[in-house]
Order: sequence, then C-alpha cells, then structure tokens
Amino acid sequence: MRTDPLLKRAAAVTPGGVNTSIRRLPDPLVFTGARGQTIIDADGKEYIDFHLAFGCQVLGHCDEYVDRRVLEAMRSIDLIGAGATELEVQAAEKLLEHVAYADQVLFCLTGSEATHTALRFARSATGRRKIVKFQGCYHGWHDAVLANVITPPEMVGRVSAMSSGMVPDSLSHTLVCEFNDVMGLERAFQEHGDDIAAVILEPIPHNVGCLLPTTSFLNAARLLCDRHGSVLIFDEVVTGFRHSLNGFGKIAGVEPDLTAFGKALGNGYPVAAVCGRASVMAESATAGGPAFFAGTYNGHPIGMAAMIATIERLESGEVYEHIFALGERMRAGLKWAAEDIPLPTFSTGFGSLFVLYFLQGPVSDYRDLLANDAARFVRFQQGMTQDGFFMLPINLKRSQVSAAHTQADVDRAVEAAARVLRSVSDQVATEVVG
Ligand SMILES: Cc1ncc(COP(=O)(O)O)c(C=O)c1O
Repeated sequence: MRTDPLLKRAAAVTPGGVNTSIRRLPDPLVFTGARGQTIIDADGKEYIDFHLAFGCQVLGHCDEYVDRRVLEAMRSIDLIGAGATELEVQAAEKLLEHVAYADQVLFCLTGSEATHTALRFARSATGRRKIVKFQGCYHGWHDAVLANVITPPEMVGRVSAMSSGMVPDSLSHTLVCEFNDVMGLERAFQEHGDDIAAVILEPIPHNVGCLLPTTSFLNAARLLCDRHGSVLIFDEVVTGFRHSLNGFGKIAGVEPDLTAFGKALGNGYPVAAVCGRASVMAESATAGGPAFFAGTYNGHPIGMAAMIATIERLESGEVYEHIFALGERMRAGLKWAAEDIPLPTFSTGFGSLFVLYFLQGPVSDYRDLLANDAARFVRFQQGMTQDGFFMLPINLKRSQVSAAHTQADVDRAVEAAARVLRSVSDQVATEVVG
C-alpha cells in the first residue's frame, strides 16, 4: 500500500493534495504510471483509462511515435526565447494545413491562455467590451469567463461566478445565454449588439457531458456576429483534434473567426493555440498590433514536436475511424446495459466521447441537465473506477476512448457497467424501502 503514505505527503505539501480543483476525487488516488489505454495507481492497480486527462490523449498515453519525436526535438534544441524556431514554423504550417478557415496561429501552453487571448483580440479588434458565453460552457479559469458551467438550479439564468477572489466587475461585461437558444441570443444582440465584442462557445459543451448543437443555433451565432460586427470564437479545446483534424467548424459547416485549441492537439503535452482570420490575428502585438500577447514558454519545442507528431498520426484518418467506432460501440453498450434497470438513463456523446446521464433524454440545454441524478451519476462513475475502468467520478463529466483502446476494452467496460448499474439501482431500491 503506497497510496496512503503518498496521499499524506501530497496533502502536506499541496493544498488538498492535487494541482487542479477538479482533480479531487471522492476516493483519492495517486498514480504512478501510464501507457496506452492503461493507468496504474500507487498500489499497482491497473485501470482502463476513459478519462484521458479530460480527453488529451487521443492516441493513448505515452504514444511511442509522439514521444520519439519529442525526444528528438529535445536532443537538438530547447527554449531560445527570441525570434522563431524552425519547429514553430513547421507546427504552424501543419495546423493551418488542416484548419482551413484559419489564416494564422499563435501558440501558448494552455486552453485558458488561448481563450483569454481570443477574447482580448476580439475586444481589441472591435473596440467593444461585452462577451456572450453560454450556460454549461467552460473556457478556462480567467475571470471574464469563470461563470455558469455547472451551476446550481437557483442560479441558472443569472451570471454566477465560480470562484471567490474575482473582482465583482470582472463579470460585468459577460452575458450568459442558454446553449441552443436562438431567441435568447437574438435578445442579447438586440439589447447589447453595439457593445458585443465576441460570442464564445464550445461547439459541443463537453464540460457538462454532451449537448449537441443544433444547426440553426450555430448558424444564428454566425449570422448575428456578422450582422453586428462581433467576433465568433469557437473554443475547441476539447473538440479540436479529438473529433476532427479540420476543426468542428468543418463538421458544422459554420466557420468561426477565431478558434482555441488545446488538449488533444499535443496528445497530452503542454501546447495550445489560438488561430483565425488574419484580420483579427493582426491585433497581436507580435505583429506590431495593439493587443499584448506573450508567454515565456510559448512555442516550446516539446509542445511543437508533440503537436506535429500527433497531427501526423491523425492524418491517415485510421485513428478517427477506430475511436469513432469504439465510441459508438460504447454508447450502444451503455444503452443496452441500462435497459433493465428501473432508472431513467440517457446514453449520448459524439465520436470517441460518451456519457451516461441519469435522466430521461434527449437533452438540448443545461436546464435539461438539471434533471440528471447527480448522486447516481457519481456513484456509477465511482463504481466503474473501483472495477478498474477509470471514469471521472464528478457530476456530468464525460468519458472518451483513445487510439490505444480496443474493442475488448469497451466490451469489458460494458459488462462492468451492467453490474455497476444493477448495484446503483439496488441501492435506490434500498433507499426507497429504507
Ligand atoms: C472547452 C475548454 N476550454 C478551455 C479549457 C481550459 O484549458 P486549460 O485547462 O488547458 O487551461 C478547458 C479545460 O478543461 C476546456 O474544456
């Protein structure tokens, strides 16, 4: 048992023992290894990983091809911190080759930096203050958007800050609309259209599982931004490179002005990007524009090499074929596994990503998700994790597969899900009787 002493040491030196708020687990774990589709905890227990660091490892953990390219880069160069490196040029060309609606790209390290930059460029380009975000979408930890992701029912419909320590004014220019609500967005533009710098959205709000966008909603967002001279930002930190090599805009047939990428872009290595139309990217101080953009580690060779290698691995399309087929198999399997239990459930997702809600589907916006039975959702994901199938035991959190997962992994997970669901359902029966 190495977990207990490590947990004690972690809690002594790090507040709560973890380095990100939502890495706190109901049953705390310490991990010591990862490879392919597997992660290992400090007691040597192996898990099939369906969390994948919030979806980062689209190829699986420690992908050999990506790691080799990272090591090669490390042998020849490290951070220079002036001018450009050949790897940055190659990485930018590679990304722009695939994301056709982006003319230029800037690299940073995290999704939060990418969305922060996109909003700054939008405000700089328009000279306006307000931004529109949607209930259920997460865009990182910076103050202007840290609101209304998983929101208690009594706060839905109001701007609801997610942290203390934020200046109250930091959200005074943030408007929150309901996802998929065309009329709500139209109202926001009627009231504030002259002052809306940007509309930012996750094309699929995966931070609350999976709310699929309607075509009319995405079209309306594009149209209203065009009509009012606002910047449309797609936050593709989760969807980008996991669902498509070409950006979700290509799938949706709606092209954003700016896009933020992260997570799967580097298969888990720290790299993120903000890219888009040359006219808005020209705001960047790197091009002599008025909007400051900087970061000591931006364009770090490790991230650049990881990104180029990850995209190369995705280019043949075989990875997408494999992970989409597994995602579909898992969604169907979970639906089947839940059929015999007397609880409402709804299996949904997109591509390689899946979620089993404890509610009567379908779902279209966050208000629908308020019906999700949070306690049972968490109990289910906790039960799966205890059985060796790691799914983040936090309400509304999605799961996903990687190129390293196999059909057998999915089938074994579905069998486990049937067992775990029966036990969740039996607990419900006991509660009712008790
Ligand atoms: C859609 C979305 N945008 C932005 C972010 C922030 O990215 P990071 O945690 O890398 O700062 C996240 C992180 O989960 C995300 O899911």
